[in-house]
Order: sequence, then structure tokens, then C-alpha cells
Amino acid sequence: MIRDIQDSILRLKKEKDIAILAHSYQSPDILEIADYKGDSYQLSVIAQTLSCSTVVMCGVRFMAETLKMLSPEKKVILPVATATCPMAEQISPERVLAFKKDNPEYKVVAYINTTAELKAVCDVCVTSSSALKIVSNMKEKNILFIPDKNLGTYIKEQLPEKNIIVWDGCCPIHNAVTVSDCIKAKKLHPNATILMHPELPKEVLAYGDVIGSTSAIINYALAHDDECIIGTEKSIADYLSLVKPEGKFYQLSKKLMCHDMRITTIMDVYKAMLGTGGEEIILEDQLRLAAKNPIEAMIQLGG
Ligand code: 13P
Ligand code: SF4
Repeated sequence: MIRDIQDSILRLKKEKDIAILAHSYQSPDILEIADYKGDSYQLSVIAQTLSCSTVVMCGVRFMAETLKMLSPEKKVILPVATATCPMAEQISPERVLAFKKDNPEYKVVAYINTTAELKAVCDVCVTSSSALKIVSNMKEKNILFIPDKNLGTYIKEQLPEKNIIVWDGCCPIHNAVTVSDCIKAKKLHPNATILMHPELPKEVLAYGDVIGSTSAIINYALAHDDECIIGTEKSIADYLSLVKPEGKFYQLSKKLMCHDMRITTIMDVYKAMLGTGGEEIILEDQLRLAAKNPIEAMIQLGG
């Protein structure tokens, strides 16, 4: 059944000139039929090179919006309209504008997990894999980092020469992991390498052997280690177990399940390809152009 749907999707891709992009958190049956898969930075960079007329973005809304900003001439479809990142909506643009008014000497760095409206009032975007390089490459010293306090604190600690104020937002999924989860996991698997996403809280990251984006975690586990504790969304440990069956990949905590990233099914992708499901992303020109500036700055500083 799944194979049949996958075959129909592969046929429709050719017939309708559609590319499928999938974030690494998507399910294996979607990753299998994707033209490109990766973390949010890789997907943004790929977006600029696509020659197709339509892109189906399997992930959450801010990822589809970013594609639309970079490729306005393409039709961009999000297969499930309600798939969003709760962190992306944690601050209103008005609060950032108020901060900028009171602190004109600060540049605002936004994690890419933000709405288009929020990006439009920020200076530079970053992703988990590019944040360190980009903030370090910025000539400005005074920086407001929004919205993720955990990624922001991680960057602040790595770059003591910068004056970074960190907003108090977070990913509710990663932020729920505790030190006690780390102690339990280490006790159960004392020889495993612990790979962690920087959206985890500071006290949890202290237990990490390697800290990196979803792609960095996958690449490290595939290249180096056969026994790993995976400190990010469950899909990554599941994926690694599938592609490296001789390895042992454990989830750091059962709490690491993102409903929004898991909501898209292969059937939703099929319906989006047929034109009977999903939502076409429409961004009004003024908003799109304003929101694109920090994304372009990200690609320039991160390249
Ligand atoms: P990446 O930057 O690793 O793609 O992570 C995005 C994300 O939403 C993690 O929760
Ligand atoms: Fe957003 Fe967290 Fe889900 Fe990533 S895991 S999409 S940051 S809620």
C-alpha cells in the first residue's frame, strides 16, 4: 500500500514538475521519495537552486514560508496546513520593534524557527547548524537573540566576545528534557556517545558529547559511532536504526516527540501532489521582501 502511494508520488513528480523537500524529522516513507532532505539550513540553501515549478515542503510552516521567500515564482505547498512550530509564534513583531526602538545599537538575530512577520523585523536569521558561524561572522557586538533561550545561551557561551541578550522563548519539546533524563540514559547505556541538539537546556547540554543540528547528529552517528543516545526528536533515532541496523540508537527522553513534525503522512504528500490537499503558501510582496532580507544575510554570512 505505502509502496503504491510512493510510486504514484514518483510518477506525479515527473508529470507535474514537482520537487519534494523533507526535513530530517519526517518519516522514512517520506524521506525515501524526497528529492532533498536535510536540516533547516540545508533546505534553505537548496531552495535557491531548484528549477522545478512546484515544491512540496514536508515539515512545518516556517520552512515552507522560507522556501517561498527565496523562490517567489514557485508554487510552494505545505501538505498539512496546521503543521507549525510552536516556538515560531512565541514573540510578536511588535515586541521586537519596541526593543529595537529602545536599543538601536542592537542587531536582532532570529532563529529560522520564526514566522515571516517576525523575520520581517529582524536583521539576520540563523539555524542550529549555522548560528555559531553566522553570529561570529557578524561585525556587530551587541545582539538580541530570539526566540530560543537554549540555542541563544549556547551561542552566547561559545562567543564571550559578543554582548548577547537572549530572549526567553524555547522549543517546548526539547526544553522538557531534564538532567534526570540524562542520568537515567547514561546509566542504562554507559558506553553510548550522547548526541544533542542545541535546543536542549544548558544543564542538559552539559551531558552531551557532540552538539549539533539534526543533520550533524545523523552524520556523526553514521560516520563514527555504533551506540548513541540521541538528544533530539525521536524520528532521528528511528531513522538511524533503519539505515544502520547494526547500530544501537536510543532516545534520550520519551518526551522528545514533536507532534507538528510528525503530523504529515505519505497520504498528505500524495494529496498535495494531486492538488486536493495541503495549503499553497502565499506571502504578500511587502512581507516577503522584508522577511527575505535576514534569510539572505544568513546565507551570505553562513556560506
Ligand atoms: P534543524 O536546524 O536541526 O533543522 O532543527 C530544526 C528544528 O525544528 C529542531 O527542532
Ligand atoms: Fe519547533 Fe521544537 Fe517541533 Fe522543532 S521540535 S519544529 S523547534 S516545536
